[in-house]
Amino acid sequence: MRRPMISGNWKMYKNNQEAVRFVQDLVDKLGAVTGVDIVVCPSFTALSEVGEALEGSNIMLGAQDVFWTAEGAYTGEVSPHMLASAGVEYVIVGHSERRGRFGTWPADWPEELRSVFGDNDVTVNWKARAALEAGLTPIICCGETIDERRAGSTDAVVRDQINAAVEGITANDTHSLVFAYEPVWAIGTGEVCDADEANRVLGLIRALLRDRFGTVGDELRILYGGSVKPDNIEGLMQQSEIDGGLVGGASLETDKFVPLVEAAQRIRGEKT
Ligand code: 13P
Repeated sequence: MRRPMISGNWKMYKNNQEAVRFVQDLVDKLGAVTGVDIVVCPSFTALSEVGEALEGSNIMLGAQDVFWTAEGAYTGEVSPHMLASAGVEYVIVGHSERRGRFGTWPADWPEELRSVFGDNDVTVNWKARAALEAGLTPIICCGETIDERRAGSTDAVVRDQINAAVEGITANDTHSLVFAYEPVWAIGTGEVCDADEANRVLGLIRALLRDRFGTVGDELRILYGGSVKPDNIEGLMQQSEIDGGLVGGASLETDKFVPLVEAAQRIRGEKT
């Protein structure tokens, strides 16, 4: 049985004071939850303070990105070892917002800024491997844009992204690998992917992982992300392949995030 996971990607929200207050509240409200991996991913600057506030709790710390070497002259970057030393256990890699696959784009930002963060299939693979080597668990993201979905290329896009991301990773390294399918058109739009369709795409990812890693592929967790909210979490969690959520907007408010974790616990609890 794969352990369900609800992971909050805070993106560029919450300063240190807000972040610490927020997780103190989460610890109060979720401290008794068992059987669900709960992760919060604040900005780099808040990691240490949030990590201290989470000490001894059942909530784990994640980061939103990582560089692929241990140290060096890379101004502005943060290495996997630095994250580990700050108490980080999980790291999101290849989020569509970093791959330049934004769903929405402010009209006054020029088109060339779209790829300003520069992630691509190669860097995502390097980041995932570096994270694993440092003992972190990468949460590897994939997902198609609305144009790719309309063109019928969802499966090919997801297949190519996943295959590239796990290049050079062997079954031995997979003890801690998490995947997230986040259709770009569902991120921050309120338009959740139909649960059956999300489950179908996750099934495709599962098949790829089985092909590559053998039976280990059955044990790896795959999350759905994109407008996950308290009113759609139940339908998602009831799907056979969906092991949890990678949550943006709803992870920023206690009264939205707590019900997501409780639903994951309740529904997976019923299934076992
Ligand atoms: P929303 O939940 O705000 O749609 O964001 C999803 C996401 O990008 C999580 O990584």
